[in-house]
Amino acid sequence: MRLFLAIRLSDAMRETLVRTQRELYGQGVRGNFTPAENLHLTLAFIGEYPDAQAVLEAIAGVAFTPFELKLRGMGCFQDLWWAGLEQSEALEALVRRLRRALAEHDIPFDRKRFSPHITLIRRAAGKMPAVSLRGVVMTADSVTLMRSDRGRNGMIYTPLGTLDA
Ligand code: 2AM
Repeated sequence: MRLFLAIRLSDAMRETLVRTQRELYGQGVRGNFTPAENLHLTLAFIGEYPDAQAVLEAIAGVAFTPFELKLRGMGCFQDLWWAGLEQSEALEALVRRLRRALAEHDIPFDRKRFSPHITLIRRAAGKMPAVSLRGVVMTADSVTLMRSDRGRNGMIYTPLGTLDA
């Protein structure tokens, strides 16, 4: 199964992002818009791995205190458009510790540098308009192990367990 560790978003943050997606659509942007229920912040992408329980056990010892995530603007990786977050030492530290725990347990993960983003649109076509995306805050108090499956109408993400602050 295909696995990743993520922070699931608060309803308020999800709603803000969906409003932004609608605004972009209204301005003529087309592409594969992430459905509201799939919006998330990936902390570590594990990929194909057979043992979800082993992942949950590996990260069980990572302690953290709840911290704030604040939206800040948009950016892109080629035709993938994302919402960004204000720089957060607590977030960076959590990601470092999760990744270290995975490595110590020989669980593979994508070692690309962590670049916090919430994917809003894939294969976006159009010029990125200026949208204001600021000030929305949520408390991050748990990390979720997600399973990703390709469904008939797009990706299906299923939570398999959490690490709570
Ligand atoms: P993305 O949104 O930038 O594509 C599930 O695929 C999640 O894991 C997505 O948030 C995706 O980020 C992220 N991810 C990180 N590295 C990945 C990789 N090498 N392959 C697929 N998804 C990856």
